[in-house]
Amino acid sequence: MEQRDWDELKQAAVEVMGRAYAPYSHYPVGAAARVDDGRTVVGCNVENAAYGVVLCAECGLVSQLHASGGGRLTHFVCVNGDGEVIMPCGRCRQLLFEHGGRDLLLWTVSGVKPMSEVLPDAFGPDDLARVATDEAGPS
Ligand code: THU
Repeated sequence: MEQRDWDELKQAAVEVMGRAYAPYSHYPVGAAARVDDGRTVVGCNVENAAYGVVLCAECGLVSQLHASGGGRLTHFVCVNGDGEVIMPCGRCRQLLFEHGGRDLLLWTVSGVKPMSEVLPDAFGPDDLARVATDEAGPS
């Protein structure tokens, strides 16, 4: 993806950041990602009076991914209220890994990096599959 496309993706993140619901932290976040079929999906953080119930921007993005037809994430960026690129939190790196894998490219605070560097040696679906019990029935 060219820089122009990255800039467009970041602009989508900035736009959705403007619709965040962050009355407690006053820290709006916007996230945008490209899907392998060319779609763009976005999300913003949505906080709650019960603080721990907060939905990160990435949660909304992943929900939109599935609600709009599924697929794999290929490129991702998230921004703060100043429109600056920020890192996805630890939990959301795991969330993104599930739907983009090692090759998902992220615009990070230190440039574009694959998820394999942002969440090294990640636990994921393959780890479950490797030791999955045979569900076919009793032997
Ligand atoms: N936040 C996100 O939406 N995504 C992240 O990856 C980092 C944190 C939100 C959660 C909370 O509403 C606010 O930022 C402050 O932590």
